[in-house]
Amino acid sequence: MKKYIVIGNPIEHSLSPKLHNFWFKKNNIDAVYEKKKVETNEIKDLILDLKKKKISGINVTVPFKKDVINFLDQLSLESKETQSVNTIFLKNDKVIGHNTDIDGFQIAIENPMIDLKIKSALILGAGGVVSSIIFALNKMKVPKIILSNRTKEKAEDMKNLFNNINIVEWGNIPDADMIINATSVGLKKKDELNLDFSKFKKKFFYDVIYNPKITNFLKLGKELGNKIENGEMMFIFQAQAAFKIWHGIKPQVTNELINFLRQ
Ligand code: ATR
Repeated sequence: MKKYIVIGNPIEHSLSPKLHNFWFKKNNIDAVYEKKKVETNEIKDLILDLKKKKISGINVTVPFKKDVINFLDQLSLESKETQSVNTIFLKNDKVIGHNTDIDGFQIAIENPMIDLKIKSALILGAGGVVSSIIFALNKMKVPKIILSNRTKEKAEDMKNLFNNINIVEWGNIPDADMIINATSVGLKKKDELNLDFSKFKKKFFYDVIYNPKITNFLKLGKELGNKIENGEMMFIFQAQAAFKIWHGIKPQVTNELINFLRQ
């Protein structure tokens, strides 16, 4: 039986196994998907297992999306430009890294983006997922992308990857049509960003976090009269794109699936 894994640390809360195993059943694929908590020094051997076909595909999550690059034979353009890999596969005996977070984010926000005519986006945070978000916003031709991170050096590192972005000081919130929380603040229910969002009305608040479903950031955004969306669909669509790469099938995103994941 073919085996797929998601590696990360921590990994207990990953819903990827639940999602991929659901799609295996629906598409009559004889395979299993498991999660594996790893340390950096274990990554090399796992990639070797992929090369030996003991494993058929690997998803990568926090904090290894950049670290895995060292062990791959080839990168897709997307993973090269974002320096981030979340999906690994074997093609012509070469281990290839790709980034499906970009498509995941883009598909998840496409409709609200068009409706709200988004011309500027403010990203809070500079962690692992931010380069994918910037790549997607550039692809969607959002003219102005602003980045703010508590630790300014990390924001500047991001500007080295994407020189079209504007960096602003943490706490200095400029106007934007869309504001994205890409920090880890909100993972705990009581977490607060303590930033002044009062000028935002009829804009779009997006949180990469989907558990809890409504972070304080989204709660406040809604109270102020903004459209809100959490990271659930981004998570599902990045998995859909990975599934398509591994199995050549675009699995369906249905209400049944969404409800199953929420259980
Ligand atoms: P990842 O593993 O996704 O890369 P990370 O690198 O730990 O996550 O990034 C988490 C993000 O949340 C960072 O942008 C971090 O800001 P710093 O670079 O200053 O650490 C941000 N973050 C975490 N806790 C925060 C807090 N209390 N206030 C503001 N930003 C915070």
